[in-house]
Amino acid sequence: MTRYLIAPSILSADFAQLGNEVRDVIAAGADIIHFDVMDNHYVPNLTVGPMVCSAIRPLVKVPIDVHLMVKPVDSMVTAFAKAGADIISFHVEASKHIDRTLQLIHSHGCKAGLVFNPATPLSCLEHVIDRLDLILIMSVNPGFGGQSFIPNALKKIETVRKMIDASGREILLEVDGGIKTDNIAVVAKAGADTFVSGSAIFNSPDYAATIKAMRAQLETVR
Ligand code: DX5
Ligand code: ZN
Repeated sequence: MTRYLIAPSILSADFAQLGNEVRDVIAAGADIIHFDVMDNHYVPNLTVGPMVCSAIRPLVKVPIDVHLMVKPVDSMVTAFAKAGADIISFHVEASKHIDRTLQLIHSHGCKAGLVFNPATPLSCLEHVIDRLDLILIMSVNPGFGGQSFIPNALKKIETVRKMIDASGREILLEVDGGIKTDNIAVVAKAGADTFVSGSAIFNSPDYAATIKAMRAQLETVR
């Protein structure tokens, strides 16, 4: 039976209260904390760096899932590994040498993820799937929270699900962008098991109720 994981994105949290927000969303049932890192170069927005990851690390028992939207990527891998990241993911376009970046992540004892934008082909996946712990399919163009889910992502998720199953490896299939209570079941049906959700959780009045409603939707897929 698939274990579904809910990964709230701190991008939509109240940054003036970040510590409390992280504690609250974990108490509300988050399985993972999704940590969006943007550099105003690879993506047109700027967020937080390794110092903020270090600051929240002691508050967080669940894994911290660092989503690097930065270019170049390698120096940030090392910085976030030292800051306590458990999973580090980067975009195909952001690394000159994808295999080398994956090795770097693993050399720090972190899990490694590769991210595919809506228009990025999956072509390199067959060459690196045996070195991945997570595959992240973007269902929005990266850079901002609160965008609408791009339905074409569903086909991609189906394709990746088949590739993961054929590999026989334990690889999380994560989806990021526009995930809400009313579409999470469709995305799970396509084969995703890990769901990033920013605005749908942090802009809701009751985090626990929203996560519970998402889990209830996921129950319908089993
Ligand atoms: C977008 C980020 C997402 C974003 C998701 O570049 O990677 O993690 O915060 O936010 P929502 O759930 O609001 O689409
Ligand atoms: Zn993200």
